[in-house]
Amino acid sequence: MAAGQKDNSTLSLKVSLRRNLLREIEKPVVLESHGGYGAIYERCYAHLVAEGVVFEKDPAKAAVLGRQRPTWAVYEADCVGALAAGVGGHLAVSFFDLDPYGEPWPVVDAIFGSKRPWPERIAVVVNDGLRQNLRIAGGWKVASLEAMTARYGNRALHDHYLEICREMLAEKAAQAGYGLSRWAGYYCGYGQMMTHYAAVLVRNAARSSLM
Ligand SMILES: C[S@@+](CC[C@H](N)C(=O)[O-])C[C@H]1O[C@@H](n2cnc3c(N)ncnc32)[C@H](O)[C@@H]1O
Repeated sequence: MAAGQKDNSTLSLKVSLRRNLLREIEKPVVLESHGGYGAIYERCYAHLVAEGVVFEKDPAKAAVLGRQRPTWAVYEADCVGALAAGVGGHLAVSFFDLDPYGEPWPVVDAIFGSKRPWPERIAVVVNDGLRQNLRIAGGWKVASLEAMTARYGNRALHDHYLEICREMLAEKAAQAGYGLSRWAGYYCGYGQMMTHYAAVLVRNAARSSLM
C-alpha cells in the first residue's frame, strides 16, 4: 500500500474493541471526532446511545450523519479546533472515539486541554495511523512525537509505538486529572501499520488493574 493511502481493512476489529470498551462505562455518552459516513455508529452506538456528539469536516458526510442520528449534536467542523474550544461540552461525554486516517495526537491534546464536563470515569478508543509515517519518515518528522523521539530514539518509536501510545495517552489525560485504569491495544491492518488502543481513565481515584 502506498504512503498516505487509506487502510479500511480493520472495521471489524474497530467494532469489537469499541463493543468491549462500551461495557466499561455505564450509560455512555459518546463523542466521535471523525464521523465519516457513520459505519462505526451503525455497528456500535445506534441502538445503545441516544445522546452524543459527532464531528466531520466533509460537508457531504456531515449531512449524512445529521440524517443518521437526529438526537445527536452533529457538527460539520474540524474536530481539533472545535474540541479545543469546548464544543460538545453541553454533554458530559464519557466515551471518546477517535478515528482519523492519520495521527490522533492533536485531537487528544484538544480534548484534554479543553474546558468541558469531566465525568469520574471515561473511555477513550483510538484508531491511530501514525505508524505508517514512522516507518517512512521516522519520528523526527512528526511534530506531535518530538518529545518521545528525544526520549526513546527514532527506532524505538516504530518498534514500540504501542507502548509509547500508552505512555503519551496517560501523560495527556493526567492534564485533566485522569489516571490510566485499563488499557488494551494491538497493531493491525496492512503491514501492521495501524495501531488500535483503548483506555479507561479514572479521575481523582485510585488506579485499579492495569492490563
Ligand atoms: C477513518 S474516517 C472515519 C470513519 C468513521 N469513524 C466511520 O465510522 O465510518 C476519517 C474521517 O475523518 C474526516 N476528517 C479528517 N480530518 C478531520 C478533522 N480534522 N475534523 C473532522 N473530521 C475529519 C474525514 O473526512 C473522514 O470522513
